Amino acid sequence: MKKFLFIIFIINIVFTACAQTPKPIVGAGKEVDPYHYTSIKNITITHGCVVSAQPLASEVGLAILKRGGNAFDAMIATQLALAVVYPGAGNLGGGGFTVARTKNDALIALDYREMAPSKASRNMYIDSAGNARTDWSQNGHLSAGVPGTVAGLFAEHQYAKLPFAALIQPAIDLAEKGFVLTKSEASSFNYNKEDFVKYNTKSIVFVKQNEWKEGDTLFQPELAKTLMRIRDEGMKGFYEGETAKLIVEEMQRGKGLISYDDLKNYVCKSRKPIEFNYRGYHVVSMPPSSSGGIILGEMLKMIEPYPMHEYGFQTKQSVQLMVEAERRAYADRAEHLGDADFWDVPQNLLLSDAYLKKRMSDYDSTNPSKSEDIKAGNVHESNQTTHISIIDADGNMVAVTTTLNNGYGSKTVVGGAGFFLNDEMDDFSIKPGVANMYGALGGDANAIEPGKRMLSSMTPTLVLKNNKPFMVVGTPGGTTITTSVFQSIVNVVDFGMNAQDAVDKPKFHHQWHPDTVMIEKGFSEKTAEQLKAMGYTLQELEAIGRTELVKILPDGRFEAAADIRGDDSASGY
Ligand code: GLY
Repeated sequence: MKKFLFIIFIINIVFTACAQTPKPIVGAGKEVDPYHYTSIKNITITHGCVVSAQPLASEVGLAILKRGGNAFDAMIATQLALAVVYPGAGNLGGGGFTVARTKNDALIALDYREMAPSKASRNMYIDSAGNARTDWSQNGHLSAGVPGTVAGLFAEHQYAKLPFAALIQPAIDLAEKGFVLTKSEASSFNYNKEDFVKYNTKSIVFVKQNEWKEGDTLFQPELAKTLMRIRDEGMKGFYEGETAKLIVEEMQRGKGLISYDDLKNYVCKSRKPIEFNYRGYHVVSMPPSSSGGIILGEMLKMIEPYPMHEYGFQTKQSVQLMVEAERRAYADRAEHLGDADFWDVPQNLLLSDAYLKKRMSDYDSTNPSKSEDIKAGNVHESNQTTHISIIDADGNMVAVTTTLNNGYGSKTVVGGAGFFLNDEMDDFSIKPGVANMYGALGGDANAIEPGKRMLSSMTPTLVLKNNKPFMVVGTPGGTTITTSVFQSIVNVVDFGMNAQDAVDKPKFHHQWHPDTVMIEKGFSEKTAEQLKAMGYTLQELEAIGRTELVKILPDGRFEAAADIRGDDSASGY
């Protein structure tokens, strides 16, 4: 039976694509088997590659590349497949950012971050006793911002070659005909069962009586129907009509705020990418409403005057310098960064040499600085954002980071529509001095206003060398996103690592508040002891990030590395 379904699935992919593209698609080659798949961590190939959090999604992207799609086609198909096979973070009900460079050198930054509903207000998460209610901002209907992902997919499509219908069909097939769960996905469903029951008004496919186990097949018929409406009606298939009705009805059942007008009025915004140079490389990243590009620029520019290569990987000298750069950049994030359509972000100043030199003027290589006047907080270890890195044979580079915020977002599935809604409202500063789930503080710059986009850390990033593609990189991980991208770039540029080592080597993180250096399991014990002796407080985390990195080798081949920390997988040819 499974084999039969698989054959139908493949035929469907091939024929749907063939029927809807102007000329026959050639080179379909090996297609996607949703019942037998495995994660591949590292490939070196010549034509094009896709690195994502789930093997099936990477394989869908590869199939699209092989059929003549470019990196944008592959990205759209991969994102849509992730919405089915990686429901904890892949999504229709969330938002994200795309940073891309076309083969003609055009740079693109797309902002489809979620937006506060028009009925949102600054103190909506403060109760009558004046307490900040993170339980309201982090779970359930009220935590959801207006989703942006579908608008982002259609904005990406202007750079693609194949019809949208061909790109969404693999996701429809995966939702309708099912796919087998990995061990980690099965245990994640089991782990979240109680919340899935608590935050839903209808029964959902992710909850079953018995425990989920590896190899179980997940069918998502309601999600398949939503995807079909998007295929048939375009953006209106999500932001208007039946899907919008289902979202608004779900909001009404759970006292959420998203309205028909909020959905209809949602737009993906084209932004000017953040660009700066680092040791002769040109870095392109995401501007606000993400903090990612600016903070990455600040950190790299702050360490640039120092001989990192001489200091060496994960030595006391290199880590301490990077920690102090991270501390200063994250302090700026809390004070200065928010949606630039609502707040005057001093972007040029923050990235200016003069400012960054002054910022490091009190750096002392023998003593920790202090993040004073800040109460202790916690860094939340969520990896439930997801990143995709793609490059094609023509040199189109696309980096996408997208999220529901927490794992499975609000935990609320839109009844009848089959997808999780985000809990992105928690990324606003819900009350001055109250940290979000990642321990990040904020103030007026990131206060809630109707229609405003909450500040993100997502950092989809491209690196160019001599104006040619050199690296595509990004990761999930909340506030640790930007420090992981920072360290991945330094690992390659300063420490000469290959893509896999740059991704897999243990990371560390400091975000100003709490005044603690988070170190990942496996971090150098010697360096940890030396930092403690200097007066740093250290805390070990199980994992930091799930980075997907493509490095272009001197001979033009692509080395694609999928993070060892999860099911992440690289596909290419
Ligand atoms: N929700 C995580 C982020 O956008 O940074």
